[in-house]
Amino acid sequence: MSERPKVRDVGGRLGILLPGFGAVATTFVAGVEAARRGLARPLGSLTQLNTIRLGKRTADRVPRIADFLPLVPLEDLAFGAWDPIPDDGYQSALKAGVLDAPHLKSLRGFLEGIRPMPAVFDRAYVRRLDGTNVKRATTKMELANGLREDIRRFSRENGCERLVMIWCGSTEIFLRPGPAHESLDAFEAAMESNDPAIAPSMIYAYAAIMEGVPYANGAPNLSADVPALEEASVARGVPLAGKDFKTGQTLMKTILAPGFKARMLGIDGWFSTNILGNRDGEVLDDPDSFKTKEESKLGVLEHVLQPEMYPELYGRLYHKVRINYYPPRGDNKEGWDNIDIVGWMGYPMQIKVDFLCRDSILAAPIVLDLALFLDLAARAGLSGIQEWLSFYFKSPQTAEGLYPEHDLFIQHRKLKNTLRWLGGEEPLTHLGMDYYRDG
Ligand SMILES: NC(=O)c1ccc[n+]([C@@H]2O[C@H](COP(=O)([O-])OP(=O)(O)OC[C@H]3O[C@@H](n4cnc5c(N)ncnc54)[C@H](O)[C@@H]3O)[C@@H](O)[C@H]2O)c1
Repeated sequence: MSERPKVRDVGGRLGILLPGFGAVATTFVAGVEAARRGLARPLGSLTQLNTIRLGKRTADRVPRIADFLPLVPLEDLAFGAWDPIPDDGYQSALKAGVLDAPHLKSLRGFLEGIRPMPAVFDRAYVRRLDGTNVKRATTKMELANGLREDIRRFSRENGCERLVMIWCGSTEIFLRPGPAHESLDAFEAAMESNDPAIAPSMIYAYAAIMEGVPYANGAPNLSADVPALEEASVARGVPLAGKDFKTGQTLMKTILAPGFKARMLGIDGWFSTNILGNRDGEVLDDPDSFKTKEESKLGVLEHVLQPEMYPELYGRLYHKVRINYYPPRGDNKEGWDNIDIVGWMGYPMQIKVDFLCRDSILAAPIVLDLALFLDLAARAGLSGIQEWLSFYFKSPQTAEGLYPEHDLFIQHRKLKNTLRWLGGEEPLTHLGMDYYRDG
């Protein structure tokens, strides 16, 4: 095991910078403020609610994660955002339609106080959107410099000790990693020459890394998941995490599929369809943005089930994902899954899951946990990809040549063991032999 890091103290304010100030981002900041005022509980957040067992089951040492490790308290968080749509936090949250009017009313002044900074935005990458609150410059490098100035100004004006950035912007069109992403030199040259291979989300990631700000990507577009930015994050000592918040249907998939596999039940087909009517749904109605999301959602079963290892169980699996934009539903998505499983002697069975979910309500606590854990990672001197945060992502970013771990329960153990390691405790193996033997 690599040498155990020492976590630096937590003192001072943490600024959370959000490119994209739509449904997820406004639900997140509203929820933090509601929790600070005692108006709502931060359900879904491990950093706020979860405990962690230390040592043997008989030792009775089960502190809250927040008492075990030095995490920034909610009172010490400050929020900044960029968005091409100039709506302040209150207007944006109203339009998103996630939170009820009484909740929003009580938080109105606070939300109105957060106005998005002009964005690095280009319709070529998100075709279904337009906005006026946009930075102008002649090269992508100049745009990155504009973001870097924003970051420094925000930090100064809000008295922040440290910052993190979490991409909550729209899903960009599908891009494959290419020569422009291979090294930092190539990436910077491509920014100078306005190469279309450099998407806006990459410019934010670059600006964050160069400013020493940890970065996480909540959407499926590449953003920091390219060798150039991984290289830069290691060189600059900056933690990275991504991609695509694991909420809704994929969360259900990574809960159910490991269970079927654990019992060696076969699966012939998994058909997933969604109807949603928020701005995210509208953006995903563009086939090129949907392709980015589809790739992210499809990979999950393949990795959990390992059909190459279990061809008789999963070799025939037909996996289909559909997302349908249906405005009447707003943010209250409905995700249907039909799962054709196969049991003893090849007898077929069916499972139907109808999840009436609220996407942003599931995503908001992920934003909070990622911000606090990335800040912890930075204070522990960790840099580059933080695979222990895979728990929160549909498409976990991993080192080159390493397949991602999608099973939610393995991800959860990895997360908790990393926290134990960071806190100077032994990881748990769950072997438990010593409870039954003298020793
Ligand atoms: N549960 C979830 O809601 C969930 C789960 C996984 C991933 N995501 C992803 O998170 C992202 C945010 O979701 P949402 O529901 O809040 O969407 P949203 O459409 O409500 O908000 C996205 C915001 O990003 C802004 N934006 C677009 N390009 C930008 C740019 N270049 N710079 C700054 N802002 C930009 C848009 O104007 C919009 O306000 C989406 O990419 C979505 O796919 C959401």
